[in-house]
Amino acid sequence: MTDRYAVIGNPISHSKSPLIHKLFAEQIGQDISYEAIAAPLEGFAATIDRLRSEGYKGCNVTVPFKFDAFNCATELSERAKAAQAVNTLIFEGDKIIGDNTDGAGLVRDIEYNHGVMLKGMRVLLMGAGGASYGVALPLLTTGASLAIANRTASRAVELAMKFPDAAIRGGSYAELEGLQFDVVINATSAGLTDSEIPLPTGIFAPGALAYDMMYGRETPFMKFARQQGARVADGLGMLVEQAAEAFYIWRGVRPETAPVIAKLRTLQ
Ligand code: ATR
Repeated sequence: MTDRYAVIGNPISHSKSPLIHKLFAEQIGQDISYEAIAAPLEGFAATIDRLRSEGYKGCNVTVPFKFDAFNCATELSERAKAAQAVNTLIFEGDKIIGDNTDGAGLVRDIEYNHGVMLKGMRVLLMGAGGASYGVALPLLTTGASLAIANRTASRAVELAMKFPDAAIRGGSYAELEGLQFDVVINATSAGLTDSEIPLPTGIFAPGALAYDMMYGRETPFMKFARQQGARVADGLGMLVEQAAEAFYIWRGVRPETAPVIAKLRTLQ
């Protein structure tokens, strides 16, 4: 019997996840189905109940339901707890296991696709909203030295304080003056409104990678980084890598991501 999976969001019609998982399944020769489901804003839990009763094996969860998914899980991975959000659910009997593959996807994209091993690197994470919470623990786990900056500095401090054992600094953009980083990650939503982030010039160390978690558009951060001589990456690789991590959790096999990223680039 075909194992069934889905991605749940609202809106969801734009989602590339069904295509990505179709390509993974074809590559590995697995018989799965994967569809996009728009849940009503107040209807996430009911949608999960339905999928479980219909025998689905798991689902991905996207905006605006990652916190609802966190709340409906009966078990949570450490990275889901740190993220306070779930993007991957596994249905196993009575259990609903919640995980978060966003950070692993980001780290894998940076390390394997962009060739920057993060251990010992000076990494700046910009933003202190849901996207930053999703990736902070996996970034720290690499052994990178992490700084978090945010427009509302107190939120960056609050996020940094979630990791009392790690030496992370959290603060405002102004406090970055005179510092340099090997990797600068944009996890803010500033790109959606074409807003500049007030980064000081000279923030990029020679050969630095500027990574925007957004894809499909050239953000003001990416333009700034190019002007400053940094190498620039968008978040398409992260999207595919977080999907590959979910596929691995569900199916026990890790798909090749490079051909899938290449295919999605041709469709952009
Ligand atoms: P998400 O879940 O996408 O991370 P969020 O929780 O609303 O969404 O967080 C958005 C992040 O982008 C925040 O860090 C926000 O900064 P504030 O905490 O100061 O609001 C950041 N952000 C949004 N617009 C921005 C802008 N124009 N300049 C700088 N940061 C911005």
